[in-house]
Amino acid sequence: MKIEDLNALKQSGEKITCLTAYDASFAAVFDTCGVDIVLVGDSLGNVIQGSKNTLGVSMDEMIYHTQAVAKGARKALLIADMPYQSYTNAKQTLENAKRLMDVGAQMVKFEGGRELEASFKVLQDNNIPVCGHLGLQPQSILEIGGYKVQGRSKNDAQRILDDAKMLEDWGVKTIVLECIPASLAKQISQSLSIPTIGIGAGVDCDGQVLVGYDMLGITQNPPKFVQNFLTNGSVKSATDDFIQAVKNSTFPTDVHSF
Ligand code: KIV
Repeated sequence: MKIEDLNALKQSGEKITCLTAYDASFAAVFDTCGVDIVLVGDSLGNVIQGSKNTLGVSMDEMIYHTQAVAKGARKALLIADMPYQSYTNAKQTLENAKRLMDVGAQMVKFEGGRELEASFKVLQDNNIPVCGHLGLQPQSILEIGGYKVQGRSKNDAQRILDDAKMLEDWGVKTIVLECIPASLAKQISQSLSIPTIGIGAGVDCDGQVLVGYDMLGITQNPPKFVQNFLTNGSVKSATDDFIQAVKNSTFPTDVHSF
């Protein structure tokens, strides 16, 4: 999958599918099933390291997992997360993004909006593709006081919409929208020409992402928007079912989204 193909999918109305993976074996299964994007998420702090949040994940750990996933993902677009405090200024952002690209990432993702203008712009100037991440930003969990839906008030919703437009102007290729009202996610998706990828943000995003372990029902106490696709059969059939459900817009359902 090339970056331009994401836009083509949005234009054609075909939903984009994305799963997180942290090792070569899961990446290879998801890739073989035809998932469009494999994301090396810093959610590895939760699901691999067993931590309460993602704040302890280091750059070296992201490099290690990205390197492994790059060996398993052949056709899917490989996006790697920039961990907490790895993009606090333009110089640091560029150095760390280059490290991820050097081990096989094709795009980097980081959380935040207008306050990160210098980081977005330095990557655009250096032709490093970026995926934005708005709404619930797990790396800000201490400031926001828990995993809660964002963008419920008029002001907050407007800020997220404005940030999304700003990111598009700064050359961002796609934006993850996490835990925002479905109506806001729909409005943002319709306002942008780049694709949105939702998680807990309703069915009207241009695509859907799930943590691979959540999709397979491995995670204890997953968020309520999660659906376990491994109710019977194999990891491969669960992945096939997830891809079909996103493509057919039968996932997420109202029951699982906000
Ligand atoms: O870290 C991660 O896995 C993510 C997704 C849940 C979007 O950012």
